[in-house]
Amino acid sequence: MSALSIATAKEVFDLLRDDLAAIEQEFTRQSASDVDVITDIAQYLMAGGGKRIRPLLLLLSSKALGCTSHSRIRLGAVVEMLHTATLVHDDIIDEAETRRGRPSSNTTWGNAKCVLAGDWLYMQSFSTALEERNFRVLELLISLTQQMVEGELLQMQKLGHLINEEEYFDLIFRKTACLFSVSMQLGAAITHADEETEALLGEYGRNLGLAFQIVDDMLDLTANEDILGKPVASDLREGKATLAVIHALERGTGADREAIRTVLAERSFTSVSHPEILEILERHGSIAYAMDTACAYAEAARLSIAELPHSEAKRALLWVPGFVTSRDR
Ligand code: IPE
Ligand code: IPE
Ligand code: MG
Ligand code: MG
Repeated sequence: MSALSIATAKEVFDLLRDDLAAIEQEFTRQSASDVDVITDIAQYLMAGGGKRIRPLLLLLSSKALGCTSHSRIRLGAVVEMLHTATLVHDDIIDEAETRRGRPSSNTTWGNAKCVLAGDWLYMQSFSTALEERNFRVLELLISLTQQMVEGELLQMQKLGHLINEEEYFDLIFRKTACLFSVSMQLGAAITHADEETEALLGEYGRNLGLAFQIVDDMLDLTANEDILGKPVASDLREGKATLAVIHALERGTGADREAIRTVLAERSFTSVSHPEILEILERHGSIAYAMDTACAYAEAARLSIAELPHSEAKRALLWVPGFVTSRDR
């Protein structure tokens, strides 16, 4: 087997099928509350689907280090529960109406109940993590939560404003890549791996998470809502400048820049249409630039784990970046 032997999707799912099913069960068990609305919201989101990419990373990271204990199932459920809680909160903040192809939970239950259910799920994920009796696990989850909250707040401060690439990367690290990184690091924490191994797995997660969010932002601009399962062109309508838009702002003509500024300031496509913005992005190669950048981070992720010993899990980790950059939802 060569150093760069990459698994196929089928091999990855065959490798993880039982563990992923066990994580679904653990999630259901952990999200059951005496107060029905909490269980209902958690089950509704879970039944809506979702890629389960964070538990997948945790499983691969822990398997690559030889984990055979129940910890990987428990923490797989923890990262998916934590992710679910952030989605519940994020859809309130973004006033989103769709998630996973269905009405978002805020639309169905209202903001007030969803804020509280999100808090409960968040705390339940910590309470589940506490069962590990492992301080490193808690340390990772606590600093992650702070990064994610800071990311959402920083993003809010920048709404409607032009930001540069450095600010963009800082934001997407906090709001998305940090959880990818921590999902990988948790695999090291539960196998008591050395610091160096935890760091390289974390670096893989960081690079992959950046690629993931760049693709997410690009899909927001170019995808079809039925396939994506959540609103499209929502970033511009929310006043968020993402990578392709930042690229076009730096290279566009005065008129191009003015058109983009107008949409960001108006937070709607009233004066300038979505197709007009897409034309500007296409003309400057901005979509291709964002895609190339995502692919470069995907490749950086693969390189981050070059030193990891050979295993089926490592081969699967080499497959994930290609899955992330070629996804359509
Ligand atoms: C959505 O994450 C939030 C982002 C970080 C863009 P996913 O795209 O992983 O959402 P699901 O879990 O598959 O629905
Ligand atoms: C998602 O941010 C990041 C989270 C922490 C949930 P977005 O607002 O960009 O993600 P979507 O597009 O709603 O999934
Ligand atoms: Mg959102
Ligand atoms: Mg958001």
